[in-house]
Amino acid sequence: MRKPFIGGNWKMNTDSASAAELACGLSRNLDDVCNEKVDVTVCPPFVYLSAVKKALGPCQIGLGAQDVYFEPKGAFTGEISCSMLKDVGCSHVIIGHSERRHIIKESDELINRKLSAAISSGLLAIFCVGELLEQRNAGKTNSVVAEQIKKGMAGIGLEKACAVTIAYEPVWAIGTGINATAQQAQEVHVMIRELIAKLYDKSFAQQIRIQYGGSATAANAAELMSQPDIDGLLVGGASLKLEDFTKIVMAAAERKII
Ligand code: PGA
Repeated sequence: MRKPFIGGNWKMNTDSASAAELACGLSRNLDDVCNEKVDVTVCPPFVYLSAVKKALGPCQIGLGAQDVYFEPKGAFTGEISCSMLKDVGCSHVIIGHSERRHIIKESDELINRKLSAAISSGLLAIFCVGELLEQRNAGKTNSVVAEQIKKGMAGIGLEKACAVTIAYEPVWAIGTGINATAQQAQEVHVMIRELIAKLYDKSFAQQIRIQYGGSATAANAAELMSQPDIDGLLVGGASLKLEDFTKIVMAAAERKII
């Protein structure tokens, strides 16, 4: 049985005071359920990672960054290395988020290098994939997502792949208020699991956690996670609201699969 995993992607939001306040609230609300029933990781902007780490205190909520660069150090102005993330207390890093793919124009090749470097350094990766609306409408969802996974995980062997959580985030659902239905998400998650079985093996395919992301809220969390292959959520907007994110984590802790 895969333990549910909820990620909070704060994106380019908060300031030092509100980031610390949100983190304090989360540690207060979630300490009891975290780790035992559900894994939770929050991903604030780089500049607030240390403050959030401090505010989370000894609770079991993980700390993640929203991106990382693959080189270990040197003349890469503006970039952040894996060891820097670990140095400030990160356990996780999001890689290949759709906003980086489509706004910053990150390629599958770059994402692959980042994923490989992150895992080699000992970070756990939340590797994001997902189709555009026109790709879905053209019936290309499965082929687009499969291609992103094959290219993103190229050269990453079974041992390293164990550090990966896949987040299926249809681009048309992110920040739009239009979530994929539980059924739509489940179908893609099944396809991803079958692909992982082919690329690695059946037993690993049953172990790897696949999150859904895209307008996940306190209102739809339980329904999304009622699907057998939806192992958690990557939450954007609703992760900035203490009450909503708390409810989402609680829904994961009390998950009932139908
Ligand atoms: P959203 O973002 O929940 O605001 O749609 C999800 C994400 O981009 O990870």
